[in-house]
Amino acid sequence: MACRRLGYDRPMDDPATIRPMRPEDADPAAEVMIGGGWGDRRKFLAFAARHAACRPFVAEVDGRIVGTGVATVNGSVGWVGMIFVDEALRGRGLGTTLTTTVMDALEAAGCRSMALLASPLGRPVYDRLGFSAEMDYRMLVAPAGGRPEEAIGVAGAIDRAADEDGASRLRAYAPADLQAILELDRAATGEDRSHLLREVVGPDETVVAVRVSGELVGFDARVPWGTHPTVAPALPDGIRLLDARRRRSAAGSDVRTAIPEVNRAGLAVLENLGWRGERGLTRMVRGAAIDWHPDAIWGQVNYAIG
Ligand SMILES: CC(C)(COP(=O)(O)OP(=O)(O)OC[C@H]1O[C@@H](n2cnc3c(N)ncnc32)[C@H](O)[C@@H]1OP(=O)(O)O)[C@@H](O)C(=O)NCCC(=O)NCCS
Repeated sequence: MACRRLGYDRPMDDPATIRPMRPEDADPAAEVMIGGGWGDRRKFLAFAARHAACRPFVAEVDGRIVGTGVATVNGSVGWVGMIFVDEALRGRGLGTTLTTTVMDALEAAGCRSMALLASPLGRPVYDRLGFSAEMDYRMLVAPAGGRPEEAIGVAGAIDRAADEDGASRLRAYAPADLQAILELDRAATGEDRSHLLREVVGPDETVVAVRVSGELVGFDARVPWGTHPTVAPALPDGIRLLDARRRRSAAGSDVRTAIPEVNRAGLAVLENLGWRGERGLTRMVRGAAIDWHPDAIWGQVNYAIG
């Protein structure tokens, strides 16, 4: 089947039917992913099945869920996420069909740009569908707790930079911060993620960086499935927010985030503070250019929404 609007062809021996995901599909869909070694996505799938800006789909063979894909409408930018196919059914075009279904949903919702974070397995599928690699993200992990001894010099330099920058301090979110958070997020991402942020920010989950003047210059929010969208245009604020996340995480646990590789200064400081790089993902885009600021991004909603 050819989709002329988007200009790609669908493979011919498509083995499954695709339909919208219902709330009761979240558990069986998550089981397929766990079986394929892709981690437990149950909480996110359940959220996507009821969240208006998400259009989740499942692929079914004989009534059994064998694949997933989630479209998320962030204003004019649409995210392609959770493209997953049961290992036994790969290489037959199903991943491509799920991706084109998500792309059609985004186009129908008026998205002029599409973005995704590609794994090595997904990359060839997206290449063929007209996505181009924009930049890599480095996934980072650090033990919970404070700054390690050897990093005190670096930490001092960050604190001095923050002071020269107008001395931002961190505090818990208050409802009056919402508008500034939404504006900061829109400027950093070039997207409208207000549908999600309005739902997840709160005093127990969100820390903000605020200058003495009262200006909000960064935030770290926690979403129900455990990841943290974190935005701060200035390096000292981004580092302090990630440091604070480490301090309030349970001792013995690991803290994870991912930042765009182009933020070389940020990566160098984080590595000095004990964060270690793991495998990366590639941000790929299609359609109208997105006006965003990768240096302001210190953490994601997840890899399906950006
Ligand atoms: C990525 C993923 C979804 C791809 O699913 P898939 O069903 O195998 O995808 P497709 O079949 O459409 O394409 C995969 C390959 O099959 C080939 N193929 C597609 N249609 C075909 C057909 N009709 N006949 C034969 N081969 C076909 C494609 O050319 C492609 O080959 P290549 O990538 O080796 O060049 C799957 O590998 C997966 O679930 N991986 C784990 C999760 C993951 O990484 N997801 C991506 C997140 S960004």
